[in-house]
Amino acid sequence: MSDMLTGSTTPVISVSVPAKINLHLGVGDARDDGFHELTTVYQAISLYDTVTVKRSLEPGITLTVSGEGADALPTDDDNLAVRAAKLVAIYGHVDPAIDIHLEKNIPIAGGLAGGSADAAATLVACARLWQVDMRSDELDQLAAGLGSDVPFCLRGGVAIGTGRGEELDYSINTQGTYYWVVATSDGHISTPECYREVDRLRDANIGRYSKEIQPLRHALESGLPATELAPLLINDMEVAAISLRPELSSLMHGGLEDGAVAAHVSGSGPTVLFLARDAEDAQTLAKQIRQRPIAKDVHIAHGPVAGPLAAS
Ligand code: C5P
Repeated sequence: MSDMLTGSTTPVISVSVPAKINLHLGVGDARDDGFHELTTVYQAISLYDTVTVKRSLEPGITLTVSGEGADALPTDDDNLAVRAAKLVAIYGHVDPAIDIHLEKNIPIAGGLAGGSADAAATLVACARLWQVDMRSDELDQLAAGLGSDVPFCLRGGVAIGTGRGEELDYSINTQGTYYWVVATSDGHISTPECYREVDRLRDANIGRYSKEIQPLRHALESGLPATELAPLLINDMEVAAISLRPELSSLMHGGLEDGAVAAHVSGSGPTVLFLARDAEDAQTLAKQIRQRPIAKDVHIAHGPVAGPLAAS
């Protein structure tokens, strides 16, 4: 990865960026600005998008996308990657003339932060291409302006996220590697819609804010086996995601029947993460889950992995 990030004089920069999952996603009340207070533990996993930025003779920013779900993504300002490039251009007083290409492997709109990951990689790539000198706190600020989990996507690894998810704490000294089977299903859950459903269910006294992360911290720092990590995976959005897409619970139960040690909705869904015992078990589990008609795409990934900038 580092050689990709050092070619500042070359006209083309490629940056690979991993997906994120939330091992713990505690959702508090909505704040005055509409965002919800979070206590989350992020882990970057080995599903990567690659962002390539190339100097162009034409002024402006063009975007092309290939790979998984490419047709479904906007290629204008609605795409976070374009917005990220514009922010770096403004910050660095550059008149942009670039082509951006996203090669997608991270399932889109699945609760894996694919759009945020692309934005993070575009920030890094454009800063290199245009040789915009940015302190890391300035880069973090641009990232947070683009989305709550973009700062984590810049760094990867394992981090605690608070605030709306953008305030990162890298104090967990994580030891183990965990293997996941990542299964998408048809359909889409919009993130704001899922947060609204959390609020609606809370008004009906369903669900609560899970703030306690000490047992998870201990498990990660001790490198406990997957079977001991399994009961510590918490997602306060899970009940809302299942309420919006009840078929998710069939997928989750199916994976558990197939031998997963845990089934965990990824972020606001609808991707489901199945925790495997080890790398070999993940292969067997993925084969089984692929046979379930409700599972659309099934990937194997491990985590944690480093982000486009090494986690500090
Ligand atoms: O920050 P991001 O752009 O990813 O957020 C998308 C939407 O998700 C927000 O507009 C908000 O509705 C919701 N959100 C939230 N609380 C958070 C993060 C996101 O309510 N902590």
